[in-house]
Amino acid sequence: MQITLTQPDDWHLHLRDGDMLSAVVGSTAAHFGRALIMPNLVPPVVTGDDARDYKARIEKALIDTGSNTAFKPLMTLYLTETTQADDVVKAAKEGIIVAVKLYPAGATTNSSSGVTNIDKVMPVLTAMAEHGVVLCVHGEVTDSDIDIFDREARFIETVLEPLRTALPELRIVMEHVTTKDGVDYVASAEKNLAATLTTHHLMINRNHLLVGGIRPHYYCLPIAKREEHRQALVLAACSGDARYFLGTDSAPHTRTTKESDCGCAGVFNAANTMVCLASVFEEANALDKLEAFASLNGPKWYGLEPNSATMTLKKTTTKTPIPERIPVADDWVVPFDPARDIYWQVL
Ligand code: DOR
Ligand code: ZN
Repeated sequence: MQITLTQPDDWHLHLRDGDMLSAVVGSTAAHFGRALIMPNLVPPVVTGDDARDYKARIEKALIDTGSNTAFKPLMTLYLTETTQADDVVKAAKEGIIVAVKLYPAGATTNSSSGVTNIDKVMPVLTAMAEHGVVLCVHGEVTDSDIDIFDREARFIETVLEPLRTALPELRIVMEHVTTKDGVDYVASAEKNLAATLTTHHLMINRNHLLVGGIRPHYYCLPIAKREEHRQALVLAACSGDARYFLGTDSAPHTRTTKESDCGCAGVFNAANTMVCLASVFEEANALDKLEAFASLNGPKWYGLEPNSATMTLKKTTTKTPIPERIPVADDWVVPFDPARDIYWQVL
């Protein structure tokens, strides 16, 4: 059996910078036409000029590493409490960025410059709503008294719903939704709300992370939830509903920073996402919906044409190996182990 799809895009990707960028960019460029590049560098990508410079570094890394130069990075800005509305609107009008990313301060990797109080960024969000600039949100509250497994549901209730009521014209993507609450909330919205789903949250639950020993390479944020939530995510991804699309959240960290007494959050799935998704959609009897999820719904939301190239995935009789670890300086990145046997390959 084999299936041919429009070439997919990744609507949520961390490429980092420097040696790490060079190490990982080829994995995404080998399969994807475009990717929405997250701005949480140190220091973050906050201005239109920062985004233009970062894009040039990504394009140079594609050339220097002999990767597929047809791959197009689509840039984002990191929203801070001092972000200027004019700069955002100008960068969007000039086509330098396609979205702005909201990180609640302290929510995840390199989010210390994020937003402490949504009221402080309302002028920028108001301008974005007026000019149709998409807001991508890391949808978790950060209050220390809120349990880590409840942070997404609490964000919907206390931040997202009031924001959508105040600015109904703002186009929002709830990134890496991990709960049934998240997919249900998106399903209930009549307009201007979509969600990305990651490869790993479609495949692992919190037992994979914690039972039989702690697995640092499954630690990511938002953290993997109960099995019933994972099943809700699979149903949403496999529904064909245009509001759900692929954002891998592939987030490379070196092995030593993950396997540590305070390990970093992030799963590196760029190299095996498409074979993993083929397996998930096959199991759900929904292979006919994979193209909508990975290749069509995202461009539609962002007002872009789907890619003109195609990708063929073939069912195999031998087990697909987990991709080889990726060397970075004197360390390496450990690719995602999907916790089940996969029998697919990208031709
Ligand atoms: O697990 C994660 N890793 N979640 C995020 O939101 C950020 C990312 C990273 O940058 O490492
Ligand atoms: Zn991310």
